[in-house]
Amino acid sequence: MERAFWKEAVVYQIYPRSFMDSNGDGIGDLRGIISKLDYLQELGVDVVWLSPVYQSPNDDNGYDISDYYNIMNEFGTMADWEEMLEGMHRRGIKLMMDLVVNHTSDEHAWFVESRSSKENPYRDYYIWRPGKEDGRPPNNWGSFFSGPAWKKDEAAGEYYLHLFSTKQPDLNWDNPKLRTSIYDMMKFWLDKGVDGFRMDVINLISKVEGLPDGTGEGELGDGSPHYMNGPHVHEYLHEMNQEVLSKYDVMTVGEMPGVTIEEAVKYTDAAREELQMVFQFEHMHVDAGEQGKWELAPWTLHKLRDILHKWQMGLQHHGWNSLYLNNHDQPRMVSRFGNDGEYRVQSAKMLATLLHTLKGTPYIYQGEELGMTNVKFGSIEEYKDIETLNMYKDRMDRLGGDQKEIMESIYAKGRDNARTPMQWNDGPQAGFTSGTPWISINPNYKEINAAQAVQDPDSVFHYYKQLIALRKQHLVMVYGDYELLLPDHEFIYAYTRTLDQEQWLITLNFSGAPAFLELPEPYESAHKERVIGNYSEAGMEPHFLRPYEARVCRLSK
Ligand code: GLC
Ligand code: CA
Repeated sequence: MERAFWKEAVVYQIYPRSFMDSNGDGIGDLRGIISKLDYLQELGVDVVWLSPVYQSPNDDNGYDISDYYNIMNEFGTMADWEEMLEGMHRRGIKLMMDLVVNHTSDEHAWFVESRSSKENPYRDYYIWRPGKEDGRPPNNWGSFFSGPAWKKDEAAGEYYLHLFSTKQPDLNWDNPKLRTSIYDMMKFWLDKGVDGFRMDVINLISKVEGLPDGTGEGELGDGSPHYMNGPHVHEYLHEMNQEVLSKYDVMTVGEMPGVTIEEAVKYTDAAREELQMVFQFEHMHVDAGEQGKWELAPWTLHKLRDILHKWQMGLQHHGWNSLYLNNHDQPRMVSRFGNDGEYRVQSAKMLATLLHTLKGTPYIYQGEELGMTNVKFGSIEEYKDIETLNMYKDRMDRLGGDQKEIMESIYAKGRDNARTPMQWNDGPQAGFTSGTPWISINPNYKEINAAQAVQDPDSVFHYYKQLIALRKQHLVMVYGDYELLLPDHEFIYAYTRTLDQEQWLITLNFSGAPAFLELPEPYESAHKERVIGNYSEAGMEPHFLRPYEARVCRLSK
C-alpha cells in the first residue's frame, strides 16, 4: 500500500459560471468563489477542480479557450484568481485547474494564424486536410456535438477537424512545436502555484495516421476507433509527465471517453509515469441505447454494479479509480440513480455512501452535497448548452424528430441539468445573483438550498461532511481491498473493504422498497458495529434494508 495525498483526498468540482455571482451580472465568477471558500472548508474537501476560467468566447462555456494565459473577463482578473488561490491554500485546499488541450477556440491566436494560409508557421498546429474530390469532407467522422467533424474554411480552401463544436478546432499533437507550447503553458500555471490538472478529453489527442473513415452506413460514421486511445497517446502523456508533471508535486486526472480497463491501467500505473487517475465513462452509458446517450434505456442495479465492480477489480492493484456519479456534463445523480421525490434525501445519502466507500478518489460536483436535482424547463429557449441545442436542431430539422420525445431525453440527459445555479438560500434567485441568472434557477430552491442544509443536522450536506471526515480517520476507506458480496441481488449492492485487521461491510439498497438482506457466512454471523448510515440506528433490522438505506458497519468475530 503506497500512501499518497491524492488517493486520500476528496475533490469538489466547481463550474464557475453557475457557482456564485459577486457583481450581479448573472454569471458566476471568481470573487463569488472567494466568498464561498468558508463553505467548502466547512464541508471538508481537500481539492477543488475548477472548470475552465481562461479567456473564452464561451461557445462551450469555457471549454473553447482563446487565451490560456488570461482569465475570462466575465469571471474576473488574474489578481482575483491569485486571491482565490491564496484563499484556498490558506484553508488547506488545493486547486486543480481544467486543462483543455485537445482543442482551442477558433478565436485563439494560433488558429487565427493557422487558418490565414497554408504557409503560415502555425498551420500545423491544427489538423487541416483537403476535401474529397467531390468536395465532401476528408472523412465521415461525426462530431460529438452533432453534424460532421469537419468544417471548410474558405481562406485556403481546406477543412479543419473539430471533434466538438465548429468553434473548437482540434490541435495537432503530432507537431512537436505544439506540444512544447502546451508544456510551457502548463509550467506557467504550475509556477503560479496550481496543484494539478484535470485534463479534458485527453485520450483523444492522438489520431490514427491517414484519418480513415469511421464505421457506419449513413452520411456520418463513428470515427472514435481512430482517435480514442490513439497510437501515440501514451507516448505524449509520458513526455508531458517527463517534461512537466514530474517536476512538480501535482495531482492529475484525465477525462477519457471510451477508455477500457486495460487502457486505464496503462494510463495510471505509476511505473509508466503518465497520469494518476482517469475518468472512465462506462457507468455513464448504463442508461443509454444503441443510438447513444439521447436514446433512453432503463438502467438496472445489475448493469450498474457489474460495471463498477469490474472497474474496482481492474484497478485494485495497478492504477487507481476516480469515483463520480455526476459532473457538469451529466444529469444530477439523485434524479438518475436515486429518487428525487419522496426519498430524495435518503437516496442522495445512499449514493454518497457508495462514492465514499468504493476504492478510489471521490469527486463531488457542486450542489450534489445538497441533493440538487434535474430540472425540466418548459421550452427549448431556456436551454443554453451547445450539445443540447445542436442535438435538438439536428433532430428537429434533419431527422424530423418528435418534439416531445426529444424534450424527454433532454430532461433525462441534458447537461444543463447540472448547470442550473447553486442554490444558496431561499431568497431571490436562490442567493446566486442579485441580477438575472444566465440560466434559470431550478424552482425547487425554496426547499433545497445550502442555508437550509447547513443548519439541519440531518441534511445531505452534513452526511457528506461526516463521510469526508471519516475518510480522514480510517485508512480502510481509502486503501482497503474491495470484495463484492451478493453479486446477483436485485436491489442491494453489498461489499467489504479490508485493510489488515480492519474490515468494513457496506450494504446499499437501490430501491424505494424495503429489501431483504441475507449475507453469506462468515458475514452473516459476524458482530456488526455501525459506523455510519442514512437512517437512525434505532429501527435497524438485521435482515432488511429500508428504502434507499445505506449502512456501513465494522465487522468483528
Ligand atoms: C469535455 C468537457 C465538456 C466539453 C468537452 C469539449 O467532455 O467535460 O464539458 O464540452 O470536453 O471540451
Ligand atoms: Ca458575475
